[in-house]
Amino acid sequence: MTDGVAGVLDNEQRQHFEQHGYVVLGGFVPDDLLDDLRTRIDEMVVGYANGGLPDGAASVFSTTEQTHAQDDWFLTSADVIRPFFEDGAFAPDGDGVSHQVVPMDQALNKLGHAMHDLDPVFDRFSRSPSMAGLAADLGFVDPLLLQSMVIFKPPRIGGEVICHCDHSFLWTEPQTVVGFWFALDDATINNGCMWAIPGGQTGGARTRFRREGAGTTTDVLDPTPYDMDALVPLEVEAGTCIAFHGCLPHWSGPNTSDQPRLAYTLHLIDGTAHYSADNWLQRSPDLPLRGF
Ligand code: FE2
Repeated sequence: MTDGVAGVLDNEQRQHFEQHGYVVLGGFVPDDLLDDLRTRIDEMVVGYANGGLPDGAASVFSTTEQTHAQDDWFLTSADVIRPFFEDGAFAPDGDGVSHQVVPMDQALNKLGHAMHDLDPVFDRFSRSPSMAGLAADLGFVDPLLLQSMVIFKPPRIGGEVICHCDHSFLWTEPQTVVGFWFALDDATINNGCMWAIPGGQTGGARTRFRREGAGTTTDVLDPTPYDMDALVPLEVEAGTCIAFHGCLPHWSGPNTSDQPRLAYTLHLIDGTAHYSADNWLQRSPDLPLRGF
């Protein structure tokens, strides 16, 4: 629980979140902490590059046809730290054995999804007092840290993330999920910053992504397409936190620049709400969700 946690947002920021569905908090991450996070990510990437890839990674990502194996890789990643790769990062050689065909710093799409529980640097960052204060300011009663990701979006390679809202993927009744998105590099239109539809959170989720059988399915709740012309770019400096409502439609374009666009995201739900048993993200009893 967050009783007694110091506030982070002023009234104007609180109102901006209420009205527009997000708030941009420049300078949220101090420079020294930013360096710690970048250094830790670099260590992990170097570790993967030096033969430290988890078993099976190459075969899972060797072709785009292996959707079942890739589904499994994703669906069992709630309580581990696991790399996900860009398309084409691996290819079979003449003997059919998969090999990585691009350097690791161009191959990684993201890491997920329990950085905040399993990595000491990300644990400390994700459970800092300012994070708890932000959650309290946004109305969390029993905040639970559900999901974390490092998103690489490499120069010239990182692709578009289609317009969506996060409640579609992390469903609670009532809706409670909130995302915290941290720029670890300056994020611009050219390197694929986040865009959002201000006020779009009031429309609720238009789809629901969930488990079905051994795989997943997407229910269409409202077939109306998002108004892409209503998206506004959220260009921010490294160290900025964008806190956004789980129903806020957001999108990011490809990184067409030579600049990296590294980001860390953390998603919170409220323990007072019901977490759906068919959400893709299911923790094992060995690693229950925790708060701050
Ligand atoms: Fe998202």
